[in-house]
Amino acid sequence: MTAVTIPGLDEAPTNHAGLLSWVREVADLTCPDEVVWADGTEAEWTRLTGKLVDAGTFVPLKKKQNSFWAASDPTDVARVEERTFICSVDEADSGPTNNWMDPSEMKAIMTELYRGSMRGRTMYVIPFCMGPLDADEPMLGVEITDSEYVVVSMHIMTRMGDKALAKFGEDAKYVKALHSIGAPLEDGQADVPWPCNDTKYITQFPEERTIWSFGSGYGGNALLGKKCYSLRIASVMARDEGWLAEHMLILKLTSPESKVYYIAAAFPSACGKTNLAMLEPSIPGWKVETLGDDIAWMRFGDDGQLYAVNPENGFFGVAPGTDYHTNPNAMRTIAKGNSLFTNVALTDDGDVWWEGMGEPPAHLTSWKKQDWTPDSGELSSHPNSRYCTPIAQCDIKAPEWEDPKGVPISAIFFGGRRATTIPLVTESRDWQHGVFMGATLSSETTAAATGKVGVVRRDPMAMLPFIGYNAGDYFKHWIEVGKNADAAKLPKIFYVNWFRRGEDKRFLWPGFGENARVLKWAIERIEGKAAAVETPVGHVPTADALDLAGLDASTEDIETALKVDVDEWKAEIPLIEEWFAKIGDKLPTSLRDEFDALKQRLG
Ligand code: GTP
Ligand code: MN
Ligand code: MN
Repeated sequence: MTAVTIPGLDEAPTNHAGLLSWVREVADLTCPDEVVWADGTEAEWTRLTGKLVDAGTFVPLKKKQNSFWAASDPTDVARVEERTFICSVDEADSGPTNNWMDPSEMKAIMTELYRGSMRGRTMYVIPFCMGPLDADEPMLGVEITDSEYVVVSMHIMTRMGDKALAKFGEDAKYVKALHSIGAPLEDGQADVPWPCNDTKYITQFPEERTIWSFGSGYGGNALLGKKCYSLRIASVMARDEGWLAEHMLILKLTSPESKVYYIAAAFPSACGKTNLAMLEPSIPGWKVETLGDDIAWMRFGDDGQLYAVNPENGFFGVAPGTDYHTNPNAMRTIAKGNSLFTNVALTDDGDVWWEGMGEPPAHLTSWKKQDWTPDSGELSSHPNSRYCTPIAQCDIKAPEWEDPKGVPISAIFFGGRRATTIPLVTESRDWQHGVFMGATLSSETTAAATGKVGVVRRDPMAMLPFIGYNAGDYFKHWIEVGKNADAAKLPKIFYVNWFRRGEDKRFLWPGFGENARVLKWAIERIEGKAAAVETPVGHVPTADALDLAGLDASTEDIETALKVDVDEWKAEIPLIEEWFAKIGDKLPTSLRDEFDALKQRLG
């Protein structure tokens, strides 16, 4: 009992015995100067953003009220997939796509990293809830962190503090999420604006519903309610309990006849979820409202429909490329303030700027904190720079975005970033074929994770970095979810590709608001109204079947975007073969059957 003297440790606003003993155990190990229970109040926001300004981590923006600019350490800018581990008890439960280490071995390593790692800092205890607080069974978590940046980001991204703690009954279950930036301060040692550690681990212990993260302050590595809980740990819960935790946006589409449809869509990181979630349709009479831009939890309701809930409370969106032409709704949301901007550029008059916003100003402070001019020859903003802003202030949020029951999903879109091969949109024959499409989804890598950009890789259901268990078991789970459901009530599955290019490397499809035309076609397919041609890979619209009125694109481009090129597909076959070989024995036979049928259709 060495830690009894840590100020704040005994001022816990809860009697939850398990939580209290865990907090004490972590404080004993990490040796912070004090312990603070995050309450989620505005006063706390003001105090901590002030502290971050004093530390040089934040610069307050003059042009956006209650908003801040931050530049990370240049080495701490994205998720670190090669440092991410699924430490299941049995290695087979982590599977061929995840890094694995024996849980006790990992704990031994990380315990030594955590030992004294909060010295000279404050340890914050953040009770939080993913999804609405008034759910029958609120999905609780507690993040312990030594980063003020994490606490204020969690203010935006989650329901947290006192209102979450109020949901902790005596024996409430919750996900334990431990985070340390791994930068202890010795007496008198000056801090740096973005403390972090060269050694990084992002570790999930699925059986224990526990997360240990060390060394990084970047959102995807440090805001543990997001990818770590809501995808990696939740996907394991979902497998055990018969639901789905997916890397999907949720949008509400209203037709000119005022019929409402809800669509969920999975695209890999930096491939268009946030953009589609907030789309401004280019076709008259259609309306899109947003429920979520990154994660969907989907369960069957008593009526047999699949209902989706967004576990998050904010948007953590890719900044570059976002502007009033591509995503006006995101721009209006951040214009209201109360937002954090990380690794974008700072203007001389105290606003933010990034590539894609039009003509650059003559001078900026770059994300590297250097003077920047249009002649600098490098980007002013990191390609994975992000804005963090509350959903509540998005003008086009659907009124039902916080309904704990969720919304009934009519269609699921899978999509990737592919310069060739994959048509603009393809409708699956049935659920199993749709699962095959998802399981073989491929995309060119982006800056959202460290590593090489532009390499085609399989990214099943856009979940490659987020499946908390064996990918083969995950496919089996998807197949079974469909088998156990009423087929007539299952969402229809589509595969889209906004990123096909012409021979001159131009995008063939204008994308963004024009994607509404593809949503319209999908809805009309569900209603049995739109035409399609059957191809070896599924049902694809003819150019006539898409509403192209007023579209600024040549028919030739559209036809090329829609084309099913048998030779390109034949070149895809060995890649799928290799992918399925990697999945190994756990690959469901039904997916193998789908693959054989595809090969046969291609001839
Ligand atoms: P995460 O938040 O990392 O999970 O990614 P995301 O799927 O939300 O990606 P986001 O919507 O932020 O898309 C980022 C990139 O995709 C930007 O470079 C956008 O310009 C580009 N993008 C989005 N939609 C379209 C589109 O319809 N066409 C084209 N060509 N680019 C698009
Ligand atoms: Mn994401
Ligand atoms: Mn996004």
